[in-house]
Amino acid sequence: MPRPSLFRPTQRHPSLWSRPEERYPTYWVETLGSLPPTHGERWSAARGRTVRHFDPYRSKLAAAIARGWEGDLPAVGEHWLYLGAASGTTASFVADLVGPTGRVYAVERSLRPFGRLISAAERWPNLLPILADARRPREYVDWVPPVAGIYLDISQPDQVEILRENARFFLQDRGRALVALKASSIERGVPPAQHARRAAEALAVEFRVGAPLSLAPFHRAHYFLDLNRSPASSDSGPSARRSTRGSGSPGPRPR
Ligand SMILES: C[S@@+](CC[C@H](N)C(=O)[O-])C[C@H]1O[C@@H](n2cnc3c(N)ncnc32)[C@H](O)[C@@H]1O
Repeated sequence: MPRPSLFRPTQRHPSLWSRPEERYPTYWVETLGSLPPTHGERWSAARGRTVRHFDPYRSKLAAAIARGWEGDLPAVGEHWLYLGAASGTTASFVADLVGPTGRVYAVERSLRPFGRLISAAERWPNLLPILADARRPREYVDWVPPVAGIYLDISQPDQVEILRENARFFLQDRGRALVALKASSIERGVPPAQHARRAAEALAVEFRVGAPLSLAPFHRAHYFLDLNRSPASSDSGPSARRSTRGSGSPGPRPR
């Protein structure tokens, strides 16, 4: 187990800690969840706090930090919509970052990981699982309030469109989005870097988009995009929910 005295708080986020290692620092997040771990990650004590290893090989958000991304992490008290939560590995870290006053609405459409997501949500009280297809935001519009950010990691060819549509429904004015883009799932035969550039260009209509960041060697052919609503579109807010709310049956509450 790592020696607790070596953990250092970061300037970047009150829940993010680093620990110097031989070559690179490792990152750790103060957790508000309870054991057991979501994916076998290491837990430790850092100056009286309980922290979890934020492993870049297991989480693309951790990989972006390890690759030098310096954008804004989900902040304390914010509400985030997480699309493609799987069994809750990264979603539980986002829940740690937004803390007990924040919320993570975690959408997953496959039953098998969803069962494990429910079990993680029993240990992270601010993680709210939703069994739904992210292509159909109308189905969860009544369960998700306007959010400060959207995290998307769903490896689908239409992931850019899915993000856009969910932003129309849920993203607040001046909201932001973090995207783990699997370039190879968009179109075979096109180099991943080119896909990432095209996706960034397509999203630049509605967002200010940072340069795509390669997540290699942690995640091959994956890029990370950091998006902020551009000033020109900042008055758009979650417009779709205003026009569709109450116009269709949302179905039973999915938890
Ligand atoms: C790469 S995994 C996500 C890993 C997860 N974000 C993490 O870091 O812990 C992609 C997930 O997206 C889900 N997914 C794919 N298409 C989806 C859709 N249309 N709606 C909701 N979830 C979807 C898959 O079932 C899968 O669990």
